[in-house]
Amino acid sequence: MNTATPHATPAVAAGADAALQVRDLVAGYTPGLDILRGVNLRVERREIVTVLGPNGAGKSTLIKTIAGLVPVRRGEVLLAGRSLVGVAAHRMVTLGLAYVPQTGNVFARLSIEENLQLGACARHDGAGIAEDLERMYQLFPRLRERRRQAAGTLSGGERQLVAVARALMARPTTLMLDEPSAGLSPKLVGVVFDKVREVRDLGVTLLIVEQNAKAALAISDRGYVLAQGREQVSGAARELLANPEVGALYLGVRRGLT
Ligand SMILES: Nc1ncnc2c1ncn2[C@@H]1O[C@H](COP(=O)(O)OP(=O)(O)OP(=O)(O)O)[C@@H](O)[C@H]1O
Ligand SMILES: [Mg+2]
Repeated sequence: MNTATPHATPAVAAGADAALQVRDLVAGYTPGLDILRGVNLRVERREIVTVLGPNGAGKSTLIKTIAGLVPVRRGEVLLAGRSLVGVAAHRMVTLGLAYVPQTGNVFARLSIEENLQLGACARHDGAGIAEDLERMYQLFPRLRERRRQAAGTLSGGERQLVAVARALMARPTTLMLDEPSAGLSPKLVGVVFDKVREVRDLGVTLLIVEQNAKAALAISDRGYVLAQGREQVSGAARELLANPEVGALYLGVRRGLT
């Protein structure tokens, strides 16, 4: 059933570290101009959490700041309780955090298989890498058929799957996706989000940034609405879907949430 049925919230012992936690996060690109102005967010292990919000709200900035690509001015980012502030972006993957950017997320001239192998470039366990490659082809059978094809020749949806598979090749505990459904037809949006759910079932925690509120919340446990640099509303995905204030103020009524 393709509805907003929430997945069981994982049992969390009191005081246990979240998979990912952001506390009072302030960040921006240019001095004196904060884009994030005190964001708080928590993702439990094996949860799917979606961040929604209008264009320019700072969604990509949030994900890039967590990934170490935008400097933190104040606040904390914790991965399983460990601070990521000051950790270089290229080291995040070795700590278990992977990130699929909003654009430019495949190497167009390399084959699908080369793209996937690059995802494992920080690993040295050859047998494990081969196993994971096979696992990716099981998860994404379309990619197996096309594994020798240049990634740039794939459809938008297939490219998105390559980007997700490449990120998974690093064996992350937590995966962040910036607008995985951008530019996809409604049918492909369904394909990509179904796969996101399967990825969670493999044991991965997911933080997703999306414009496509309805489709993203349908597969999420919880969501946050970001606007003016702060999280304005948060709650169970089903509650956000039903919240008229959320629909009207932050998601655009024309997106057809009701
Ligand atoms: N590299 C950059 N340098 C300076 N300012 C930037 C940069 N990237 C983004 N910004 C600014 O930060 C603000 C938030 O942008 P961001 O890309 O985080 O928004 P978003 O919520 O992801 O929007 P969209 O839904 O359009 O992807 C915008 O005002 C934008 O102009
Ligand atoms: Mg963005």
